[in-house]
Amino acid sequence: MNDVLTINEVGPRDGLQNQRVAVSCDDKLRLIQALVDAGLRAIEATSFVSPKAVPQMADADELFVRLPQPERVAYSALVPNVRGLQRAQACQVREIAVVLSATETMNQRNINMSLDQATEVCIQTLDGAIKAGMRAKAYVAVAFECPFEGAVPPERVLALTRAMFAAGAAEVVIADTIGAAAPRAVSSLMGAAAAEFGAARLSAHLHDTRGFALANAWAAIEAGIRKFDTSLGGLGGCPFAPGAAGNLATEDLVQLAAQSGLSTGIDMAALRSAIALAQTLTQRPLGGRITAWLGIQDTYRARTGQ
Ligand code: COA
Ligand code: ZN
Repeated sequence: MNDVLTINEVGPRDGLQNQRVAVSCDDKLRLIQALVDAGLRAIEATSFVSPKAVPQMADADELFVRLPQPERVAYSALVPNVRGLQRAQACQVREIAVVLSATETMNQRNINMSLDQATEVCIQTLDGAIKAGMRAKAYVAVAFECPFEGAVPPERVLALTRAMFAAGAAEVVIADTIGAAAPRAVSSLMGAAAAEFGAARLSAHLHDTRGFALANAWAAIEAGIRKFDTSLGGLGGCPFAPGAAGNLATEDLVQLAAQSGLSTGIDMAALRSAIALAQTLTQRPLGGRITAWLGIQDTYRARTGQ
């Protein structure tokens, strides 16, 4: 069993795209620096999407060229179309992710395209990215349940995953965008995908809407998955998917990994400083499932001096 878990921190993109409070480019960079200091080595920094659709990401071009320590960190960006790819290329982005939702309505709401159009645009964008020498990933979003169409057939998710690999994607990220999956469905879908495509080329993107994100992560780990998208403090949610709450919290997965013999390379104390900064910047309380326990540990340490 591979005992290294790779965490791709998506807080600066999935987390900040949905905040009411405007976070400046300087503050986003401070947050990303704090994540790098905590040991994160893969970070989805932003998205090159329409600023009308997602004003929170309008500073992508400025942000990307100012990212700290690009030689040590694999920074990626989400791009919805060829226009986004061109912007990313101009900013020397080395890794992009396209986004294909598994249902007709979700593609319409998210990127104003039908499922067929979105598939075509993803294929074109992946092709352009690969020709430009970038690493190219594909999200298959709403892979378990769609907020508009309900349960999504696993065969469709597998077919879309197959299409993205056929188009040259180096990795496919299977996303429970609205956090509706339960562990048995995760075992089944991730197991089938791992059997067909190889677990090393897959990643899981989970949300904690119903409190199942950690249980789902464990199901994915047991299916052989070793790459996860997480967000510090659970910050996150898609503005176009009603009811989507925060992501699987980075600290939750780091702690689960640590207690399960899997290494992440992330320092919990430094990660907590990054979460504190994110709370200040977004003006909202953050924290995953282990937050209460971490607080109890702090109190105990303060009392006993240990
Ligand atoms: N970056 C910046 N601007 C873009 C762009 C991009 N990647 N793609 C299109 N635009 C601009 C066009 O130039 C046009 O500008 P104008 O009105 O000033 O002429 C405008 O956006 C509309 O372009 P159009 O091609 O008609 O796009 P659309 O209105 O159908 O929107 C998307 C399609 C994909 C651009 C938009 O829905 C989008 O950015 N969605 C992102 C959703 C998202 O981030 N979801 C969360 C993550 S999964
Ligand atoms: Zn998400």
